[in-house]
Amino acid sequence: MKSESQVVVRPALDVRGTVSLPGDKSVSHRYAMLAGIAEARSRLENYSTGADCASTLRCLRALGVSWEHNGAANVVEVQGRGMALSAPTISLDCGNSGSTMRMLSGIVAGQNFSSEMIGDESLSRRPMARVITPLTLMGARITSNDARPPLHIEGSALKAIDYKMPLASAQVKTCLLFAGLLADGETVIEEPLRTRDHGEVALRAFGAKLERKNNAVKIRGGQRLLGIEARIPGDLSSAAFFLCAAALFPGSQLTLPHLLMNPTRARLLEVLMQMGLNISVVQMEEIHGEMVGTIQVTGARLTGAVIAGADAAALIDEIPVLAAIAPYTEQGIEVRDAKELRVKESDRIAAIVANLKLMGAQVEEHEDGLRVPGCQNLRGAELDSFGDHRIAMAFAVAALRAKGETIIHGAESAAISYPAFFETLEQLVVR
Ligand code: S3P
Repeated sequence: MKSESQVVVRPALDVRGTVSLPGDKSVSHRYAMLAGIAEARSRLENYSTGADCASTLRCLRALGVSWEHNGAANVVEVQGRGMALSAPTISLDCGNSGSTMRMLSGIVAGQNFSSEMIGDESLSRRPMARVITPLTLMGARITSNDARPPLHIEGSALKAIDYKMPLASAQVKTCLLFAGLLADGETVIEEPLRTRDHGEVALRAFGAKLERKNNAVKIRGGQRLLGIEARIPGDLSSAAFFLCAAALFPGSQLTLPHLLMNPTRARLLEVLMQMGLNISVVQMEEIHGEMVGTIQVTGARLTGAVIAGADAAALIDEIPVLAAIAPYTEQGIEVRDAKELRVKESDRIAAIVANLKLMGAQVEEHEDGLRVPGCQNLRGAELDSFGDHRIAMAFAVAALRAKGETIIHGAESAAISYPAFFETLEQLVVR
């Protein structure tokens, strides 16, 4: 059983400094999986330090992929074994990682063996029909616990499909692109909204050819992948916590070097700028198709925002921290069209509402979002992470401007994406 830890966060006066983020979680998962089925060796520098990306590596090892991890430098070297992996003798344990289960299912579905994919208590509650349905159309045979994990996947020779995704999900799109790579024929995936495109960008970096037309992407099966050498850009969704912390203090100053700036992920920067935060991009380059840059941030008064429609999907991982700082804005923040938040690592809408109320805030809960009025003062309180990394980190940020200390129970869940979060936050805050 995991031991529970609590963290005490005291109010701060300012946020100042430079922080280099560990590699982006979305990019790390995809690079590791593609490196595993490439024909050569890959070297991945600044691999995500989070437990989720370690789950991906563990599953790959169970599938016969050998890799070495130099922990001190966060370098992972993967010896690709080509498209044919080996039958696992143990269940593929995805831990807390929905990305691992959903994206890797596209690869194991196309193998000539069966695999069982399992997860922790939170992952075991999460919906998997979104990958089961299209993979079944491609020819895989999958059984599950009422469309939830564990998944038993009997791999087979997949056939290409033309699939209109009913739901905007980059994990599902990537799963199907990976399956399409192993399938016979050309797979076409159409998404209802443009979601993060790291799957497409990573496939191209490993040498695959894809075509995109509007919201549809096409991949031909049978393409072989090359190895790559890459330094993974800093995680923008982890940076969100520091950006929002800086946003709480007019005059705060933060520099974030080597940060992922992929336009399908960078909506947060635009929204924060519209709300009043000063962000300047001081350097920008493209590495393996991903935009990477250094940004400088200066805090100012924050207005407010409405996050709905395509923005809800674009900001899905950043909504917890935006909602947590909403009481300190002038006009508050309203979130709609974000029902997906209810089936993340926790029911994030319920978790945000519960914690904001414990801190004394007024908040309105909706089935697909919430509304937090602005100009509210919060008080320190005893909060729960609900076993969810983003909830633990979001409320550590909200606590910086509360009156009195905040205790966050289950703070260890931050390690799912960012083990050094609390230490780094402490280094940046001024008291
Ligand atoms: C991710 C996509 C998002 C996001 C998750 C990572 C990815 O999930 O919430 O943290 O790497 O593709 P969905 O694709 O299910 O929206």
